[in-house]
Amino acid sequence: LQNGLARLPPMGWMSWAKFLCETDCKKHPNTCISEDLYAKMGNRLVTDGYKDVGYEYIHIDDCWSKLQRNKEGRLEPDSTRFSKGIPWLVDFLHQRGIKLGIYGDVGPTTCAKYPGSLNHTTIDAETFASWGIDYLKFDGCFLNESGIPAEYKKMSDALIATGKKIVYGCEWPLYLQDHPETINYKDISSACNLWRNFHDIDVNWQSIINTIDWYNEHQDEIAEFHGPGAWNDPDMIVAGNPEITDDQARAQMTLWSIWSAPLIMSNDLRTVTPSAKAILQNRDVIAIDQDQIGDFGKMVFNWTDLYFYVKKVTPVVKVDDATEFSKAIAVLNRGTVNIKINMKLSLLDLKYDAGYSVRDLWAQKDLGLYGVNDELHLHIQPTGVVFLKATLVKKNRTFKWNI
Ligand code: DGJ
Repeated sequence: LQNGLARLPPMGWMSWAKFLCETDCKKHPNTCISEDLYAKMGNRLVTDGYKDVGYEYIHIDDCWSKLQRNKEGRLEPDSTRFSKGIPWLVDFLHQRGIKLGIYGDVGPTTCAKYPGSLNHTTIDAETFASWGIDYLKFDGCFLNESGIPAEYKKMSDALIATGKKIVYGCEWPLYLQDHPETINYKDISSACNLWRNFHDIDVNWQSIINTIDWYNEHQDEIAEFHGPGAWNDPDMIVAGNPEITDDQARAQMTLWSIWSAPLIMSNDLRTVTPSAKAILQNRDVIAIDQDQIGDFGKMVFNWTDLYFYVKKVTPVVKVDDATEFSKAIAVLNRGTVNIKINMKLSLLDLKYDAGYSVRDLWAQKDLGLYGVNDELHLHIQPTGVVFLKATLVKKNRTFKWNI
């Protein structure tokens, strides 16, 4: 959606994968869906350094509202769990430089049976706008497939009509997945800033792998519509949870960065370990995710348990009419043992004859200059990755750095 928003993949924190729909604040005061949880996580983004590296949204998910609309037909937050009201939370976060996302559903109710926006599109868009909301995640439960495209477009128009800057995150293609022939990414990308393609991610490695498999398989059909203002969304970053090892956390961050995916964590920021925090905050990796080209990097081949990915990044060099790109390279080891390989850049179709300056993004170490036929020595841990940036080397010709 070219509304001037989400020019880079959004980064933030969302409650769902970790906290789901816990509404009992008596029994679970620290983990129930409440203004307290969102305010605390917003604070953590700032005090623990996440905001400094780009995480800027807090996203409310399902189960925030009352079970009924009010007499005027408006949504209201649950009055015990959000006693101060949504505008209070918006202010609290805005004062700290953090934005607030809220959640709705295109159907009659949300997946957890709270009121949905069907037949209330305009009033809900106006309510969110009047509260100062910066982002809407719009779910797709309980609506017939045939109604999905038109209803998602309606909310897109209604948000624009408010005149407020509200990022629009859809789940449109996910809810048409039983009839993929009805998924029109051209329409989706002109109505939504981002869209979920595949099932919900859970907090375990198998779920990360299932997501990677889906994107491997569908990369060619979805890459074309992906870029500034319009992003495929492979769902939340679950790194930072105790179920995910550091190798797996690096793998998830790497793949999501190869795809220029939104980096929206779902974890408990109060208990993230120092090593996981360093992974989530690795500036070299985040810079690949947030690279201004916004390329959807692809799996170029696999060999035994190793999967190789390449993404176009800046800086670029223009020689005559052609553009040479720097590349981010990821090697994922899906097996159970450490693998060592020697690899030439030419294997991945990197052909710039002046060569590349290669950096190991997880070690945050420059490896030196490599011609396309020089061998890189790589060790890839099981359920882990190697993630490299190969930057074009300048040579004495007419060239233009950056785009
Ligand atoms: C399904 C969505 O895909 C999830 O991300 C989450 O929002 C739940 N619904 C909430 O019910």
